[in-house]
Amino acid sequence: MSLPAAPYVPDLESIDPSLDLVAEIQRLRKERKAIILAHYYQEPEIQDLADFVGDSLQLSQQAAATDAEVIAFCGVHFMAETAKILSPGKRVVIPDMDAGCSLADRCPADQFGEWLKQFPDHEVVSYINCSAGVKALSTVICTSSNAVRVVESIPSHKKIVFAPDRHLGKWVMKQTGREMVLWPGFCIVHEQFTAKRVAAMKALHPEAKLIAHPECEAAVSQMADFVGSTAALLNFVAKDPGRAFIVATEAGILHQMQLRRPDAELIPAPADSGCNCSLCPYMKLNSVEKLYLALRDLRPEIILDEAVRLGALRPVERMLALG
Ligand code: 13P
Ligand code: SF4
Repeated sequence: MSLPAAPYVPDLESIDPSLDLVAEIQRLRKERKAIILAHYYQEPEIQDLADFVGDSLQLSQQAAATDAEVIAFCGVHFMAETAKILSPGKRVVIPDMDAGCSLADRCPADQFGEWLKQFPDHEVVSYINCSAGVKALSTVICTSSNAVRVVESIPSHKKIVFAPDRHLGKWVMKQTGREMVLWPGFCIVHEQFTAKRVAAMKALHPEAKLIAHPECEAAVSQMADFVGSTAALLNFVAKDPGRAFIVATEAGILHQMQLRRPDAELIPAPADSGCNCSLCPYMKLNSVEKLYLALRDLRPEIILDEAVRLGALRPVERMLALG
């Protein structure tokens, strides 16, 4: 009997300290015919190296369209997995395989499948922050930027289950007027923004506009001048005449915001935790060193069971067809 392969751990000590890592990444990117995709929550130095920086919808569109042979996905696991669902012929590597997500991790496909048995006559709308196994159990996938449109595309007489983010689900219910059964998941980063702390910050900066990601709890979204996905928040700041913004989402987005609005004051919303930070511990597992290793060794690589991939592909394609 063969033993299961040991999990791959990036060997940071194998990196020659005299190397210029940025130059090496540029060289390897060409040699491997690779594209580097990065989410807005990545460290600024990773965003600056990437061929494309975007939100989860834009990144999945890029992954579907690219003719690169390798996708180095600087984001979290479900995002890289979605790239593999869409581009099975490409090698998809992620700098750190442990870069998970509290929403995806707390909605295991087997438990979700059991839970769904209570709602056999419901359409299942799943937020892209879930595993391929959960996607395969869904009617259609959505991201934070198209969730309202996706839910509205479901005929009004149909009942809907929405998973796995209860806050995004509640926000979509409010925007669409549709009742939905919600899986009780949440993002550990956005749940840290509380109405009390955000109100105190607003009182300190009365001139600032509050902008929030829909993964925030309803009490925070309701106070916001604008609610939207990371890309929508970025566009809002780029175009809005205001000069100060309290930003209730992961602080990685501030890098692109400041590049687009060097004149604006960007105030990270305070998290209700001891460290006062609003950083996603999963996103921050990736580093330039691990990206270099991923391109050098083409590991760790996303490998998907073909039946699961095919099951997940249909609901993802349905979402992409909605534009
Ligand atoms: P976006 O859809 O805005 O990219 O959000 C993804 C995410 O993980 C937010 O926490
Ligand atoms: Fe998941 Fe929240 Fe991190 Fe986004 S910020 S990847 S939802 S844990």
